[in-house]
Amino acid sequence: MVVISYSPLSFTYILGIDTSCDDTSVGLVTATGEILSNVVASQLIEHAPFGGVVPEIAARSHLKALPCVTEQALSPLNGDWRRLSAIAVTCGPGLVGSLLAGLSYAKGLSLSLAKPLLAVNHLEAHIGSALLSADCPQLPLVALLVSGGHTSLALVQEEGEYLHLGGTRDDACGEAFDKVAKYLGLAYPGGPVIERVAEGSGERVEFPRPMSDSADLDFSYSGLKTAVVNYVHKLSPQERERELPAIACGFQESALGVLIIKLEKALRETGAKGFVVVGGVAVNRRLRELARNLAEELGVSYHIPPADLCTDNGVMVAASARHKLERGELAELDLAVYPNLELGQAPEPGFFSR
Ligand code: KG4
Ligand code: ZN
Repeated sequence: MVVISYSPLSFTYILGIDTSCDDTSVGLVTATGEILSNVVASQLIEHAPFGGVVPEIAARSHLKALPCVTEQALSPLNGDWRRLSAIAVTCGPGLVGSLLAGLSYAKGLSLSLAKPLLAVNHLEAHIGSALLSADCPQLPLVALLVSGGHTSLALVQEEGEYLHLGGTRDDACGEAFDKVAKYLGLAYPGGPVIERVAEGSGERVEFPRPMSDSADLDFSYSGLKTAVVNYVHKLSPQERERELPAIACGFQESALGVLIIKLEKALRETGAKGFVVVGGVAVNRRLRELARNLAEELGVSYHIPPADLCTDNGVMVAASARHKLERGELAELDLAVYPNLELGQAPEPGFFSR
């Protein structure tokens, strides 16, 4: 039996590993939240020909990339990996094979270095990427999480304490960007490409903003996607090419507009005086502009992390694990992966996969 001991006062360096989807991400942070490294190996080139992530390819690529990415992320320790205080790893939600690759590697490190293992919820880690900054508004705040897999609104009462306010009923916002881009013949991932094409447009096609009038804080993106498909379907190839920027711009305005409408509603309903926007879609410059306008209009404070902390990364995993280490919430070596883990949901030990 391996006995892993630690002292809350002596910890300094936390390694964070995220392999929930198609980025092999490892980061190193200190107990005070200082970022020492943030290394990401992207699998974009491997998935691009398929227009989306192929789970089998993703899992195999993580296995290949993890040793090298981890070595780079640990370079600030000058080869002395034993100076690490703990290893934090995403255990869900995500693709089962991808999650298993990261978790198995993290368990190996934990066992061989005799350092504690910490289990992190990927959605909470995205929110943690904003809480890490000195510019983050005071709690309680509203968090808007917009990525390829999730679109959620939550009230963050304390770090680790979340009240679910709303979520998507079908596609996630980033997923809608990716699907619409694919339909328009644009590259994967669709978000950055649609943003670029839309920026060059002087006009825009008006598309609906689904569920913007509904009383709840939920989202729906499949109707918007269908509206784009139906519009494009009626165009000749020449019209399609000519109108592409206006279509991209119209789609982007509708997709992001709904986010802002619901965010405003969440702020009014909760009375929170600040918000954060996190996840891959938060890289979008138009969304950042709309968020700034909303904050000014309502007189609330807000924070959106820099682009490299919005997309999947290991820093957010390490950062969110800090309070777990402080509280002694260590994971066991029989920790499972949880592909459908929800915000605020803790993993239960003892199962291979749930
Ligand atoms: O957080 P993330 O890296 O991975 C997930 O956990 O899903 O988010 C990836 C998603 C993709 O759907 C991508 O198209 C979208 O974020 N994205 C963007 C932009 N950059 C990435 N969406 C809109 N505008 C962008 N600039
Ligand atoms: Zn993510």
